[in-house]
Amino acid sequence: MREPSDPNDLVTHLWSSTARKSDGVLEVGGVALSDLVAEHGSPAYVLDEADFRARARAFRDAFVDYDVFYAGKAFLSIAAARWIAEEGLGLDVCSGGELSVAERAGFPMARVELHGNNKTVGELERAVRLGVGRVVVDSFDEIERLAAVVAREGRPARVMVRVTAGVEAHTHEYIATAHEDQKFGFSITSGDALEAVRRVLDAPGLELLGPHSHIGSQIFDSAGFEVAAKRVLALHARVATELGATMPQMDLGGGFGIAYTTQDDPAEPARLAAEMSAIVAHECRALGIAEPHLSIEPGRAIAGPAMCTIYEVGTVKAVRLDGGAVRTYVSVDGGMSDNIRTALYDADYSCTLASRVSDAPPVLARVVGKHCEAGDIVVKDEFLPGDVAPGDLLAVPGTGAYCRSMASNYNHALRPPVIAVRDGVARVVVRRETEDDLLATDVGGLE
Ligand code: LLP
Repeated sequence: MREPSDPNDLVTHLWSSTARKSDGVLEVGGVALSDLVAEHGSPAYVLDEADFRARARAFRDAFVDYDVFYAGKAFLSIAAARWIAEEGLGLDVCSGGELSVAERAGFPMARVELHGNNKTVGELERAVRLGVGRVVVDSFDEIERLAAVVAREGRPARVMVRVTAGVEAHTHEYIATAHEDQKFGFSITSGDALEAVRRVLDAPGLELLGPHSHIGSQIFDSAGFEVAAKRVLALHARVATELGATMPQMDLGGGFGIAYTTQDDPAEPARLAAEMSAIVAHECRALGIAEPHLSIEPGRAIAGPAMCTIYEVGTVKAVRLDGGAVRTYVSVDGGMSDNIRTALYDADYSCTLASRVSDAPPVLARVVGKHCEAGDIVVKDEFLPGDVAPGDLLAVPGTGAYCRSMASNYNHALRPPVIAVRDGVARVVVRRETEDDLLATDVGGLE
C-alpha cells in the first residue's frame, strides 16, 4: 500500500457516483452522512439510488440484445426490486424468501427467474403458480420434481439447465479444468448435461430454453467467459445433432467484478458486452449453429459500488507489533455482523474519515468491529489521519453486494438499516432491527 498524499481525499472511483466531501463531511445523494447518522444512528448502510439505477441501466444498455437479470442475492429489498423493474431488467431469485420480495414489490413475474441447487417442492410450486419466467434446474431429482409440479398445477414452466463448464474464475485468473468437483449444475464433459437436456425435452409441460453457466465472481475480464461459452455452445451443437432439438437461449451468469481498492481494475460493461458477443458469434459460426439469445446475471457490479457503510468510532488503540512498528486499531460500532466478507473471504476494503477534515499525518490503521472474535476485521489496512478518535465517523465504500444480504445477528447484534439517499433526501428502505425483532423468535420454551 502506498501512503496517500492526503488521507482526507476520496478515491472517487471506489465510491458511488454522487459521493463527495464538503469540509471533510462525506455526502452521498446530496445528504451529509453526519446528518444521516444524527437522525438514524449508526452503523447504517447508505444506498445511492441514482448510482444503483445507473449501474442497472448501464448493463441493460451495454448488453443490448441480451436479457439482463439482476442477481438479487447481492442485495435485495422491495425498493431495490422496484428500481430494477423500472430500469427494465429481470430479477434472479434463489429462494422462496427472495421470491416473496419480488412478489411484494409487484415485480413482473415473467421477468423473474428462480435458481437454486436444492429448491423445495414448495418453492417450485409457488414459482409455477406465480408464473415466473424461468426455472433453472440443477439436478435430475429436480427435473422430476418440477415435471410433477407442472402436471399437478396444470401450468407449464420454462426451463434452463444449469451446466458446469469446467471453468472457475476469480478476478484476473481463471482455471479451466475437466474436473468439476462442486455442487452446482450438470457436467458437460461427463454427459450429464446432455442427459438433463434430454429429460427436460421429454417432460410434458417443461419448455427447454437452454443451458445456464455461471463461472464465478469478481471477474475482471472476458477470458473465463470465453472458455465457458465455447464449451456451452458445443453442447448446443450436440443437442442439435444428437437430440435433434434447438436450444434457443444461453445464460452466461454473473460475476462481473468491481473495484474494492485501488488494486482492482474491472472492465466496463460495454467492453465486456462487445467481447462476449464477439466470442459467441465467432464460435457459433465455427460450429455452424444459430446464435442463441443471450442473458446475463450481474449482482455485485450493480449493487456493490452503490452502497457504503457508515460507522462511528468507539475506541482507538495503538498496538506495538513485533519489530517495533505500531498498528492503530480503530474499533467501530459494527463489524463482521454487517460485513462478513473480510473475515470470510479475506476481502479487501478501504475507508475514509467521513465527519471532518484532519491535518494530522496519516497512520496505518486497521478497522475492526465490536464482536467477540479476533478475526472481526472490517478493513485490514488503511491510512487514516493520525488523530482519528472516538466519535469520528468512518465510511467504507463498496458494501452494497453481499454485506447486508449476508449480515447476521452474531453476538445478538441488531442488523443496520438500509437508507436510500437521492437528491438531498434520505429514506429508510430497510429499518434498523430492534431488540424486539431479535427476541421475537426466542419463544422461551419454558414450562
Ligand atoms: N448468477 C448465479 C447463478 C450466481 O450464483 C451468482 C452469484 C450470480 C449470478 C451473481 O454473481 P455476481 O455478479 O454478484 O458476482 N457471497 C460471495 C459471492 C457469492 C456469489 C454467489 N453467486 C461474495 O460475497 O463475494
